Amino acid sequence: MLKAVQNQLTHLEGYLSLEERMGCGIGACFACVCEYRSKKGYVKICQDGPVLKASEVLL
Ligand code: FES
Repeated sequence: MLKAVQNQLTHLEGYLSLEERMGCGIGACFACVCEYRSKKGYVKICQDGPVLKASEVLL
């Protein structure tokens, strides 16, 4: 579903909420990482999200 929303936002600025099960929830375990176009390639959803720019997230 998030991919479908992202596809609808190709010409608009939008955000995705990437809530998912968290391991530690404080940025220590890397269980929630998500590929991101900028910012070193990955972000932690628990620390950097859960709401991220749709154009930057790689699903
Ligand atoms: S839940 Fe552990 S780093 Fe995000």
